[in-house]
Amino acid sequence: MNETKFQERIDAEKKIEPKDWMPDAYRKHLIRQISQHAHSEIIGMQPEGNWITRAPSLRAKMILLAKVQDEAGHGLYLYSACETLGISREELVKQLHDGKAKYSSIFNYPTLSWADMGAIGWLVDGAAIVNQVSLQRTSYGPYSRGMVKICKEESFHQRQGYEIMAEMAKGTPEQKAMAQDALNRFWWPSIMMFGPQDSDSPRTGNAMKWKIKRQTNDALRQDFIDKTVGQAEVIGLTIPDPDLKWNEERGSYDFGEMDWDEFWNVVNGNGPCNKQRLAHHKKAHDEGEWVRNAAKAYAKKQELVAN
Ligand code: 3HC
Repeated sequence: MNETKFQERIDAEKKIEPKDWMPDAYRKHLIRQISQHAHSEIIGMQPEGNWITRAPSLRAKMILLAKVQDEAGHGLYLYSACETLGISREELVKQLHDGKAKYSSIFNYPTLSWADMGAIGWLVDGAAIVNQVSLQRTSYGPYSRGMVKICKEESFHQRQGYEIMAEMAKGTPEQKAMAQDALNRFWWPSIMMFGPQDSDSPRTGNAMKWKIKRQTNDALRQDFIDKTVGQAEVIGLTIPDPDLKWNEERGSYDFGEMDWDEFWNVVNGNGPCNKQRLAHHKKAHDEGEWVRNAAKAYAKKQELVAN
């Protein structure tokens, strides 16, 4: 197999499996994207975990607990898919801790009120659904199959978030104001989840050539905006973009200019919570070392017993 044959396989919509030959650049691109996706799932547990003890009811607490546990599982699937490319979990975590690997910018914003749990479920998981439904058709087999499972759980995440926002929007004036404030703070960071504009996206060219991505950052962003504006209108909340306007000719919403300085600032580690998120992850990882050692010792003992 060589690059020409490999590309023919990709163009013929054949999935690439771990044991198949693949160009080093394809392998590296996938390790990069899948590991950052996995890191995002795990770091993303922090902003929501922040509100588990302060949920307004037992039902709300149970739903949020279930969602945060789901995210841990998504991280597990994605780390496992990434390991099939020949990199260890330890190395992936080290890259995160050394600042060599990224995670989604969205998780570097603080969660200041209960309504933020609604905004995250509705907008962040809503954006994730748009991105991940597309990724179900990615060319790498383990990544594609992991996406199928993850997408099924994301729809629950999005619905529970939208329910929180809908309830608050029809509640007291203070509750509606809290929901609108959460929308104001999470709208633009949520559409930044789709990455830089296609013209500024160094990875999109290869990602599309190798069918790692099936749609570009801008196309997915537009799809999310078109799907979400109506949902805000139905519950009486206002999207914080004065330039948002339906364009009949395009059949899509025109929207305002994004703050790309803010985007790259957060992506490059200088967002409101970057340092806090990484410090928390390192602390939890260090405190969990005894669990990893116990699991390894148990596995070793099982191995000895079996042989
Ligand atoms: N946050 C952090 N980093 C970002 C970013 C963002 N929103 N957007 C882009 N970047 C980084 C890229 O990782 C890349 O960094 P690298 O070269 O060091 O790897 C650089 O900025 C250039 O961006 P590109 O657009 O060229 O890179 P990609 O083509 O990889 O696009 C992406 C970025 C859209 C994040 C793409 O990697 C992707 O679709 N990843 C898979 C989905 C994913 O990771 N989603 C994150 C959200 S997690 C989530 O949804 C959990 C849910 O439960 C809430």
